[in-house]
Amino acid sequence: MQGKVIVITGATSGIGQVAARRLAVMGARMVLVARDKTRGEEVMAQLRQDNPSVSPSIHYGDLSRHSEMKRLGAEIAAAEPRVDVLINNAGALFGSCQLTEDNWERTFAINHMAYFVLTQGLRERLLASAPARIVNTASAAHKGRRLDWDDLQSIRSFSPLKAYGRSKLCNILFTRELARRWAGEGVTANCLHPGFVATRFGDGSGRWLSRVVDVAKVFAISPERGAETLVYLASSADVASVSGEYFYQCRPATPTTEARDDAAAARLWMESSKLAGMEA
Ligand SMILES: NC(=O)c1ccc[n+]([C@@H]2O[C@H](COP(=O)([O-])OP(=O)(O)OC[C@H]3O[C@@H](n4cnc5c(N)ncnc54)[C@H](OP(=O)(O)O)[C@@H]3O)[C@@H](O)[C@H]2O)c1
Repeated sequence: MQGKVIVITGATSGIGQVAARRLAVMGARMVLVARDKTRGEEVMAQLRQDNPSVSPSIHYGDLSRHSEMKRLGAEIAAAEPRVDVLINNAGALFGSCQLTEDNWERTFAINHMAYFVLTQGLRERLLASAPARIVNTASAAHKGRRLDWDDLQSIRSFSPLKAYGRSKLCNILFTRELARRWAGEGVTANCLHPGFVATRFGDGSGRWLSRVVDVAKVFAISPERGAETLVYLASSADVASVSGEYFYQCRPATPTTEARDDAAAARLWMESSKLAGMEA
């Protein structure tokens, strides 16, 4: 990974933090997107220690806000002449339906729209750096979920796990459509389920839900193990030409029928473009 530039979201905690540190040790220069200055500076210090020969950078912003998603994309594109890997990983679970300043449901905004908007913002840099990769952290929580085109953001029919599962289904469909649209451009897109991992995930989701997730974490794997597939997809020569796939434990896995629906993937792209005010 010497000489490679990797942009990563959600690296101030959990699997993103472990992955960023491992990739830095492998020689990559990490460019972090974070919202919390204290945690951001801590990880930056770790990265400098992990590999003193490359200087990481950090861009602060809240990925639940459309204006910030766009600003971060533009800011990184202006600062970085090349982006070899983009890792969309920041994600969250919320115990109640919250609307953002854009009137987007918060889970949908962070877990799906931020992936979509940041990827578009870095499109030119990724294409110019080909061969390049996009890695999207999805989840097995997509299982049993289908998108409702009349309530794409699950606002009318909100339940925490439904909104979360649907947002992770969006990650897989987005990856498929991205792979299809950018095929032949030298940029691959893959996604993954990291396993059930003991991170800070769910801690801020509200009282009862945080408690349920906390109890369930007894059965979870460590962030070190959870980061393995993320690091593999970002760095391994084995997957240099693989695109549009869903991985678990560093192997291709088959997501649900709903997650393999190419018509739904194309429609999600159109709907997301409309929401983001972008050309489809
Ligand atoms: N843990 C699991 O069992 C599991 C299973 C399947 C999939 N996943 C997925 O794995 C990914 C990483 O989660 P994790 O388990 O490592 O959880 P985590 O420890 O809670 O880390 C989440 C990361 O996302 C960042 N983030 C959240 N909201 C943000 C916002 N509005 N703006 C900017 N950054 C934001 C957090 O920043 P702060 O440090 O500022 O909070 C943190 O760095 C997520 O996409 C999650 O859906 C996790």
